[in-house]
Amino acid sequence: MTRVYALTNHKGGVGKSTSATNIALGISAMLRNAGASNSRVLLIDTDSQAHATLVTTGQNNYDENNSLYTVLMADRQKATQVLSECLVQSHWDSNLHVLPASHLLEQAESELQGTAGAPYRLADPLSKLAPYYAAIVIDTRPSFSLMTEIAATNAIIPVEPRYLETVGLLSVIGKINDIRDGWRFANLCVRGIVVTKMDNRVRGHHYLLEELNTHPQLNQLLLGVIPMNEAVSYAHRSHASIFAYDPKATASKAYAQLVHHILSQKRGA
Ligand SMILES: Nc1ncnc2c1ncn2[C@@H]1O[C@H](COP(=O)(O)OP(=O)(O)O)[C@@H](O)[C@H]1O
Ligand SMILES: [Mg+2]
Repeated sequence: MTRVYALTNHKGGVGKSTSATNIALGISAMLRNAGASNSRVLLIDTDSQAHATLVTTGQNNYDENNSLYTVLMADRQKATQVLSECLVQSHWDSNLHVLPASHLLEQAESELQGTAGAPYRLADPLSKLAPYYAAIVIDTRPSFSLMTEIAATNAIIPVEPRYLETVGLLSVIGKINDIRDGWRFANLCVRGIVVTKMDNRVRGHHYLLEELNTHPQLNQLLLGVIPMNEAVSYAHRSHASIFAYDPKATASKAYAQLVHHILSQKRGA
């Protein structure tokens, strides 16, 4: 079964889009380098701010005709066809395909209220296309969306090494587990936590990392630590991946290590 990774956290600015885009590319590149027969990865942008869409496709003006919004509003019988027609090849790599977000997504949920099967309008067509991909990565908006979590199999939670951020972690994990149990989605699990924007010079960051590492529940979930690195902002500005922008940057190496960890978990899980 194709894994669907959702980068999720109800907070903004924690590195969801940075992580989703670079993990998606990283998975594709690592599979290709390992000689895998399929290294296609699909990146789905579910945030109306469309940051992941902008950096990976160079555009953020997708609309009612060519974006995730189009898929959500499509006739259910045609939704898979519509989804495949809305996909865009990323300029990052021909094996990275993107389902773009649109500013219209803000109104989608209210437009769909009361529509039969509304929360499944992403998961259903996606499940038909999933076998074509080695992995699917979903970038989410800074609030919980049932529609997104239902489409996912593996939640990855990026978190900044700040006290109040880490306090919120257990509630994020609790919500994901509630969705799994309440909606009977046995396949949905919390795959792990990624600490982002770690500044080695800040003592408080070390304390929090130490707390995570010794926490009875959270310690097993720590997937990786991404350092604070200005190359990340420069890469965004150039609409480039961190790997292409500067393969030697500390964040580049950390994301490569994270992807390696995610893929080795995949084999072992
Ligand atoms: N490792 C990092 N080092 C430095 N800046 C980062 C890093 N990760 C993300 N950023 C910056 O933080 C901001 C928020 O990141 P983003 O990925 O858009 O978060 P989110 O999607 O959670 O809102 C962006 O300006 C981005 O360039
Ligand atoms: Mg974002």
